[in-house]
Amino acid sequence: MKDKKWWEKEVIYQIYPKSFKDSNNDGIGDLQGIREKLPYLKELGITTIWICPIFTSPMVDNGYDISDFEGINPEFGTMADFDQLLEDANKLGIKVILDLVINHTSDEHPWFQAALKDKESPYRDYYIFKEGKTEPNNWRSIFGGSVWEKLPDEEVYYFHAFDKKQPDLNWENPVLRQELYEMINRWLEKGIAGFRIDSITFIKKDQDFASLPTDGVDGLASCKSKTRNRPGIEVFLNELKKETFEKYNCVTVGEAPGVPYEDYGDFIGDDGYFSMIFDFNYSDIDVESGSDWFKRTNWTTKEFKEKLKRSQKVLQKNGWGANFVENHDQPRAVSKFIKPEYQTDEAAKALGMLYFFLRGTPFIYQAQELGMQNAKRNTIDQFNDISSIDNYHRSIQEGYTLETALDFVNKRSRDNTRTPFPWDDRQYGGFSATTPWLAMTEEYPNRNSQQNPVFAHYKKMIELRQQGQVSEVLTHGTIVFLENVPDNVIAYKRVLNENEVYSFTNLSDTEELISIKGEPLELLLNSHGDLVNEENELKLYPYQSVLFKK
Ligand code: NOJ
Repeated sequence: MKDKKWWEKEVIYQIYPKSFKDSNNDGIGDLQGIREKLPYLKELGITTIWICPIFTSPMVDNGYDISDFEGINPEFGTMADFDQLLEDANKLGIKVILDLVINHTSDEHPWFQAALKDKESPYRDYYIFKEGKTEPNNWRSIFGGSVWEKLPDEEVYYFHAFDKKQPDLNWENPVLRQELYEMINRWLEKGIAGFRIDSITFIKKDQDFASLPTDGVDGLASCKSKTRNRPGIEVFLNELKKETFEKYNCVTVGEAPGVPYEDYGDFIGDDGYFSMIFDFNYSDIDVESGSDWFKRTNWTTKEFKEKLKRSQKVLQKNGWGANFVENHDQPRAVSKFIKPEYQTDEAAKALGMLYFFLRGTPFIYQAQELGMQNAKRNTIDQFNDISSIDNYHRSIQEGYTLETALDFVNKRSRDNTRTPFPWDDRQYGGFSATTPWLAMTEEYPNRNSQQNPVFAHYKKMIELRQQGQVSEVLTHGTIVFLENVPDNVIAYKRVLNENEVYSFTNLSDTEELISIKGEPLELLLNSHGDLVNEENELKLYPYQSVLFKK
């Protein structure tokens, strides 16, 4: 019997299946491709993979628009391929978690199609339809434009928080909820280790559907304050857990943006809805809102540190966190957090060290372990991501020049992390033998998985956390942030009984001095070649990170 909190010990690797490895040379990654690369993941040392949606889908949002929850998208393979992948991964000691998208479906899902065909169909109540001659309110969807889409032959609109091809499910309907629970349980019965749960804070909408004061030149208002983390959501989330997850010793990772810190206990406490959730408060430091990329901030390391500290404190007080610096919706971390002249392998290592030893389960997004950077595109046609296209047009609407709009998108595009994985320096990076669905980054011939120093460093970080004398403290130790350090240095210690591990990261382009009076510290890991440790003083180079044991 597995320990109840077995997931605290995991290192989770996120795979974007479309871009990981193409086994049949159609330019699109697939399940057999993932299977082929399991030894690479084993070598890195990760213990669980989270695979982004692999289910039947028209791929408008690359799989977050599901038309059959229990079918495999033919581009990715078959259910037999999935079974084989699961079996092989488990044989290597790697668990598999899948993406659970239950806030919405594709408009091509048979439920939605049945709802469209017949007004009297019970499936109408599986979604949110409203009668009217105009849009029922002025809410803007996450991917731009109204949340309402008119039916062609009726004065009826349906609701979508994301793209119009992603109609939201009506969680107020108990029959629909039951269908979802049964589907979830069938997947868990198959032997997967759990789920990452997409957009889960959106499942409850304010039932008044009242308009809001506009917040953009399009005359609309972000739907978030009426559709995300709204009162009453606790009823659905408790039921979801009770009917599904609780019956299995599985891991659940909630994608839960917008949860106020006061509510974290409900989400991740001992009786919480989920094992852990992602906190976006510090990863979105470069923008005022994750969906408005033209609202950029001039953030400082001090502000970043404060946000990180607060996040870790709240997570520690209430439960467990899912630590990450990249995912398929974010740009590459090196490009976001490190000044352009310093975007080196060393800086990539330091950034890895900064977040990897925080308290919680570390997540690594594919090719993050290679120190990948953003891709630069020269025209908007080169983007695939629907959110990039929306943000480009909205920026122009808001009065920015075409060039600035493109720059906002290049900095934040979700395509940045979705480029094909560069396995080697061959054409198309060994990802595929044919032109991939999305162009590679320009850096791939020089940055790929062959003899990559960042990879070797990530491997060491994983080893330290998973095995050996500091493993326990790095996993289960409490976290305490150190206060007497320069603003540009993020310093914390992990403590378990008499064991202590210290982490210092200089997240800036200036040299910083730290006083380390007290007991001698033993160096465990260093992002830069040499360490200048003069008596009682530690000199950190720009973007250097060090890890010590006391
Ligand atoms: C969050 C996912 O991470 C993102 O990729 C997707 O577009 C939206 N949810 C909608 O499902």
